[in-house]
Formats: sequence, structure tokens, C-alpha cells
Amino acid sequence: MAMKVALLGCGVVGSEVVRLIDEQPEELAARVGTPLEIGGIAVRRLDRDRGVDPALLTTDATALATRPDIDVVVEVIGGIEPARSLILAALKAGKSVVTANKALLAEDGQTLHTAAREAGVDLFYEASVAGAIPLLRPLRDSLAGDRVDRVLGIVNGTTNYVLDRMDSAGSGFTEALEEAQTLGYAEADPTADVEGFDAAAKAAILARLAFHTQQVTADDVHREGITGVSAADIAGARAMGCVVKLLAICQRSEDGGSVGVRVHPVMLPVEHPLASVKEAYNAVFVEAESAGSLMFYGAGAGGTPTASAVLGDLVAVARNRLADTHVGEGGHDTGLLVHDMGET
Ligand code: HSE
Repeated sequence: MAMKVALLGCGVVGSEVVRLIDEQPEELAARVGTPLEIGGIAVRRLDRDRGVDPALLTTDATALATRPDIDVVVEVIGGIEPARSLILAALKAGKSVVTANKALLAEDGQTLHTAAREAGVDLFYEASVAGAIPLLRPLRDSLAGDRVDRVLGIVNGTTNYVLDRMDSAGSGFTEALEEAQTLGYAEADPTADVEGFDAAAKAAILARLAFHTQQVTADDVHREGITGVSAADIAGARAMGCVVKLLAICQRSEDGGSVGVRVHPVMLPVEHPLASVKEAYNAVFVEAESAGSLMFYGAGAGGTPTASAVLGDLVAVARNRLADTHVGEGGHDTGLLVHDMGET
């Protein structure tokens, strides 16, 4: 029997998810062990051509997310509401959920994890941080036997693009931001990018997984965006052998008892691996006690790369459902507290 997928949202990422499922039915069926079938797509308006079968479209997202024949719900609407209510309704109805929703996970991830655990289903969200880069599962699973001390990340493609264009092409801030919007990297409201809110949400998710704690939310992240970075700052940094990057920094305190998280522009020496990350690429540098330094690099924004991460989660969830093993994600809590990074 096919694994039926409900898709909530059909914008830049959602339409790519549909395309990737439609393009490779046999391969996906072989990898999952049963065919993946899109059972419905919830959209706000029915009158737009999205390149998908119109018979699948509905404006009743709640009915679709809880429909008895649906096995897995993919949420790519973004934002807090109605995404939170829809995900909770789906989880309570026994559906596993795959989401790319960084804002919601950073604000209220604990509620979602609790609901998933209580329902005995999976909640996966690899696409929420750094797009296509396999990062959350390595942090949660592959490094689970290690002790991560620090995570440094370029996790917002738009701001990296703007800073890179200002540096390498002498572009103005506004011109470079408009290019990032045209290329489909920026949020609907680019304030979320340039003021660091997007990176702060991702930093909170990274900190939770890297340090195995549920205590960090976006509100705990000390945040400064790139609107105050001028062409003179970038030229001055260059003169000192540095580049300006917006970094998410998640750090364990020296006594190991708490975690601090911050996002702000940093002057990085050109020799640092993160300094060479160009355009809208993302990279995350992890310092762990036994593994040493690790670098994760790749496309962090854009419809197709983000859809790749969604598909990976979808295959994992579908396999778990077939095997009847639900591992959840990040629901554990070591009780590490958060300390204010504003003064460091
Ligand atoms: N606006 C985000 C970025 C999209 O620029 O990185 C991916 O989360």
C-alpha cells in the first residue's frame, strides 16, 4: 500500500517537493519500500497555476492534515500560525510530520516534540536549518557520543550573499539584497534576514541539537543583523586581512553547565574555513572534543536544495512507519541552562 503524503503549502519549496516526488516514483518506492503518493496539497488560493494536478488542491488544510488515509504531513507554509495548529492537529491524528519551519521550531519546538512523543510518531525538520546541508541528524545522532563545545555557522544565505557582493563586487546593500530576493533566497519579509531573526531561529535549533537541550528558544539568542555594516566596515576588515560574516555562535560555558547563543556580524580572518563561504552558501563549523573540528558546507537556501532535505526526511519517516519504529527528533533534554551572550 502506498505511503500517502499531505503537503501543506505549495510555494517555492512545496512545488519542488511535488516535482521531486513526481520525477522519481520508482527510485523513491525502492528506497522507502512502498510508493510515495501525494494525497493532497493545501493552498490558500485555488486560482493560481502551480504546475501541480489541480485535483489535489484544497483550501481546507486542517481536513487534509487529519484525513484518515494520510500517513505523513509535510508542512512548508512557514511562520507560527496556522502552521503550529496544523502540525499539532496532524500529530494528534497520528500522522508523522516533516517541516522546514525554523521560526516555529525555534519558538515552540518543545510543544511539537511533546505532541510527537505522545502520539508515537516522527517529527523531522532537517530543512529548517542550512537548507540542503545534512546537519541536524549528524549533530543529533552522529555526534551523540561526543561533546560539542562550539558551533559557528553561516546559516542565512541572504545576508551572506549581501555581504559577499558588497565585498567582492562593490555592490550597495540595497542592490545586493534585491538580487538575493530575485534569486529566491530572501524571506517574504527580508527584515527577517537582514536583522538576524532568521539566523537566530536557526541558531536556537542548532544549540538545542548540539547540546541536547530543549531549553533554548529564539528569544534566548542575542541578535544583531547586518543593517549596520557599511562598505567602509567591509573595506576596513579587508585591510586587516578579514572578511565580515554574519555568524550564529552557540557555545558551551567554560564550566560546561550552560549554553550561550548569539548572532552578529564578525570580522573573520581570511584563513578561517568560514571566510571562504561565498554567495548564498551556508557552512557550519563544529568543534567537538573527540571528533575535533568539522565543517558542513552547501546550499542553504533556494527551493530545490531545501526540497532535497524535505525529501530525505520524508523517506526516513516513511521507512520508520513501515518498520513501526519512531525515533522522534531532539526530544531529549540534558537540562543545560542558557546564559545571556549579550555581554560576551
Ligand atoms: N531566507 C533564508 C536564507 C532562506 O536566506 O537563508 C533559507 O532558510
